[in-house]
Amino acid sequence: MIPNQWYAVLDSKELPRGRPIGATRFGEKLVFFRDSNGDPVCLFDRCCHRGAALSYGKVIGDHVQCPFHGLEYDSTGKCVLIPANGKDEPVPERYRVNAYPAKEKHGFIWVWYGEPRKEYPEINFPDDLDELRDQIQKQASNHISHHPTSLSMINVAAGILEKDGKVLIAQRHRNDTHGLKWEFPGGTLRRDEPGEYGIVRELKEELNLDVEVIRYFGCYTEPPLRIQYYLVRMISGEIKLTEHEQVAWVEKDRLHDYDLLNGDRIFVDRLRSI
Ligand code: FES
Repeated sequence: MIPNQWYAVLDSKELPRGRPIGATRFGEKLVFFRDSNGDPVCLFDRCCHRGAALSYGKVIGDHVQCPFHGLEYDSTGKCVLIPANGKDEPVPERYRVNAYPAKEKHGFIWVWYGEPRKEYPEINFPDDLDELRDQIQKQASNHISHHPTSLSMINVAAGILEKDGKVLIAQRHRNDTHGLKWEFPGGTLRRDEPGEYGIVRELKEELNLDVEVIRYFGCYTEPPLRIQYYLVRMISGEIKLTEHEQVAWVEKDRLHDYDLLNGDRIFVDRLRSI
């Protein structure tokens, strides 16, 4: 790629209002959406919290909202809301994702690839070159790789921890997606992170528990989520809540009394049979 140029990356028709789309450009996964004026925005498609793809999220006014815990980003890539901290709480500066300058012109969405500038050059595209425009539009359509069909799922690991005949479940924070639902605790895997490492890290980060994996217990897929379940054993630690409302130790036969996430319900039945 030649830097410091505008590149036509999408046909304008490919970018609807009210919904983010993902595409791979310049070797990076990017999310595109339109702000409330209809102007295009282009950000790096990976939430700075736990790495979920923003292209699976929602457009809310001038922001894109992460599908996982609801962080919202503005058109500069700055995170402007962390719901779990409260609406009026300021967001630390480090919560941000990269943004590319984006414009719409001549029927295309253009992205500036290069050094940021105070002022960007005009996008020149003579209107009488209709044939060339058609060719470029065809090329753009052929190379669009929208994430929902071609990019990876959000990989999550969940841990099933049993102690004294009871199983640990946690209630999601009220401001998270699926707020107040109960779940086997866990979280999003980092890029290329094996599930058996990820679940150990997540239980330490989320609940302050040191665990080891006994065995893989199965997988549940509900696009865009792919959840890998692991039976884990406690080594040490005292539960400290960082993301959940509360936790509960529950007998296997009583787990269905709780409002569990869909995938977790299936594994409750399997758990009762072992
Ligand atoms: S992964 Fe995006 S808000 Fe948590």
